[in-house]
Amino acid sequence: MSKTAELILEGRSYQLPIVEGTEKERAIDISSLRGESGYITLDEGYVNTGSCRSQITFIDGEKGILRYRGIPIEELAEKCSFVEVAHLIIMNKLPNREELKRFSEMLTANELLHEDIKYHFEGFPPNAHPMAILSSMINAGSCFYPELLTEMRSQFDVQAARLLSQVRTIAAFAYRKSRGLPIIYPKPDYRYTENFLHMMFSLPYNDIEMKREAVKALDLIFLLHADHEQNCSTSTVRMVASARSNLFASAAAGVCALWGSLHGGANQVVIEMLKEIHESGDDGSRFIEDAKNKSSGRRLMGFGHRVYKNYDPRAKILKKACDDLFAKLDRSDPLLDIAKRLEEAALKDSYFIERQLYPNVDFYSGIAMRALGIPVEMFTVIFAIGRMPGWIANYKEVMEDPNARISRPRQIYMGPTLNHFVPIDQR
Ligand code: CMC
Repeated sequence: MSKTAELILEGRSYQLPIVEGTEKERAIDISSLRGESGYITLDEGYVNTGSCRSQITFIDGEKGILRYRGIPIEELAEKCSFVEVAHLIIMNKLPNREELKRFSEMLTANELLHEDIKYHFEGFPPNAHPMAILSSMINAGSCFYPELLTEMRSQFDVQAARLLSQVRTIAAFAYRKSRGLPIIYPKPDYRYTENFLHMMFSLPYNDIEMKREAVKALDLIFLLHADHEQNCSTSTVRMVASARSNLFASAAAGVCALWGSLHGGANQVVIEMLKEIHESGDDGSRFIEDAKNKSSGRRLMGFGHRVYKNYDPRAKILKKACDDLFAKLDRSDPLLDIAKRLEEAALKDSYFIERQLYPNVDFYSGIAMRALGIPVEMFTVIFAIGRMPGWIANYKEVMEDPNARISRPRQIYMGPTLNHFVPIDQR
């Protein structure tokens, strides 16, 4: 017999169904509550609200577990490429050789932007933030591929490959434009991540020397960001999709949500914070004291997470990847030493212990990107490229759900009660 929860309201009993996931997470289904009782639930910031049923990503925040389609992130990080993981997330299957070849060929076939899109880059001022350019140009895709508006279902694979491939081209073009550099086109014989580095750093007369370690590190960064269930940007993508907006418009909205400093924008702010500590000569302790004091308005960026109450498994992998990368490139970075010192001090501090605040994915990713020569304003763009498979898969889930309804939360109105119009000369 299916389980129910009993809710007693004003002496009346309501039976609410319990929904159990495949990993035994449980939820109380309150969808009939307002119809039956007149009450809604209130959960500001959605701290305790499940917004959908999803088959893509599982997180156990207490244990620090992250799995894409059931496979632990540690196994994928060690054994897979970003493109294989994108196939896993979007197509719900680790590709065999033939499938991977077909998927890679689709990415290559769709890597070039419509030639006229290029002119739109001219309209942005110098120093425009590349996240603003990225969201605008992804949305512009809806103008250049009008079939997006009508043939989404029959052409989903092509549209997905186009978005996944072109986000990287747009990102690199945005960077070149912001630096006044000539645009470099993708090369069909380069793989996904190599091509991005080529478009970012080659010159018309001189291709960059592709370092294996650099390609591997960036591919890992993309892979670790590929999905993360119902975070702010993915929920945004799902919400826009629920209105039956097209894939490019939904993904552009995701980019806007990701940009914020409490979300993907944190990777840029972490580096700015570490630089500030370095330049001020602070050993980190002053900053930690500030971060504990709410009135300072500061936080230890790259620390804390809504879901993880344990070490973010992505941060663990990235910390090790930073050490490996610096060893292989025979380099060092004082910011890595500061980050490690901050982590050590915070993990011993009762403020962080009591609130279960640990390093999150953004704490070490910027240090790795700095080592690859990626400028700080591109960090959140890199996050967006990595997150694209997750946004696409979540979009698909919404579109393929025969029971999907438009996302439309309610509110508790706290404004003035009935109040009548006053003509302008009597106000
Ligand atoms: N430094 C200092 N105090 C913190 C921090 C931090 N980084 N994060 C949370 N707290 C405190 C917060 O002040 C609150 O204290 P109290 O209980 O005394 O009021 C308590 O911990 C709970 O914090 P919250 O803001 O209610 O938690 P949340 O789940 O709403 O926010 C968060 C999660 C990630 C926005 C927050 O931890 C934060 O601002 N971290 C810094 C920004 C950051 O690194 N963001 C990247 C998140 S991971 C990748 C991604 O999603 O993009």
